[in-house]
Amino acid sequence: MKKVVLVGSTGVIGSKVEKVLRDNYEIVTINRSSGDYKMDMADAKAVDETLSKIGGFDALIATSGYGKWGSLDEHSVQDFHDGLQSKLMGQVNLVMIGRKYANPGASFVLSSGILAQHPIEGGLSYGVINAGLEAFVRGVAFEAKDIKINAVSPSFAKETMEQMGMDSGSGIPAIEFAMLYKQAIEEGKSGEIYRFK
Ligand SMILES: NC(=O)c1ccc[n+]([C@@H]2O[C@H](COP(=O)([O-])OP(=O)(O)OC[C@H]3O[C@@H](n4cnc5c(N)ncnc54)[C@H](OP(=O)(O)O)[C@@H]3O)[C@@H](O)[C@H]2O)c1
Repeated sequence: MKKVVLVGSTGVIGSKVEKVLRDNYEIVTINRSSGDYKMDMADAKAVDETLSKIGGFDALIATSGYGKWGSLDEHSVQDFHDGLQSKLMGQVNLVMIGRKYANPGASFVLSSGILAQHPIEGGLSYGVINAGLEAFVRGVAFEAKDIKINAVSPSFAKETMEQMGMDSGSGIPAIEFAMLYKQAIEEGKSGEIYRFK
């Protein structure tokens, strides 16, 4: 069985990714507070230590990372730093360090989000982070021949809207996004941003 490292397996989307992959892949789960390994992906040293213990893998999926949710006036400069350090640099760490341990041709799938292209009130930090991540994916795919790298860009998951107390009528069930991560590791492309259509 091919080995998939899943960072963010307990989240709204990551739990569904685990569900759609678990019959056909060996899944190694990582989160900050639970899983096969506990690690904060924002901590480069911890990422190196954890991935070196896991050893070779065929895919690494990140459905993880924090950003500030709030309006422009609710944002401090520190909020931008915190989100960039967590969701952006956390996923950059997974690729930059994970490459050393990945099997040849391994597939990395990161999580960006619709706010990169479509701003809404509350989503400023996530928009900045997601746009950076998409540029990272395209840039690495352009240069790296030893790995494949793609991102899934979810819009609002129905379950997340419910958690936030929003009207979830326009939300997409998280399982639909989970299928895109599976498609990304199985399709063999690189540099793609997968969106639910
Ligand atoms: N849900 C949506 O509607 C939506 C929309 C657009 C984009 N996205 C993006 O899709 C991804 C998944 O979203 P989600 O809603 O499923 O997230 P979520 O429910 O908040 O879950 C996040 C998961 O990642 C883990 N995690 C968070 N920070 C981490 C870190 N620094 N290091 C290691 N693990 C970490 C969490 O576990 P621990 O707390 O134990 O670490 C949890 O398993 C995120 O990048 C999010 O920005 C989501």
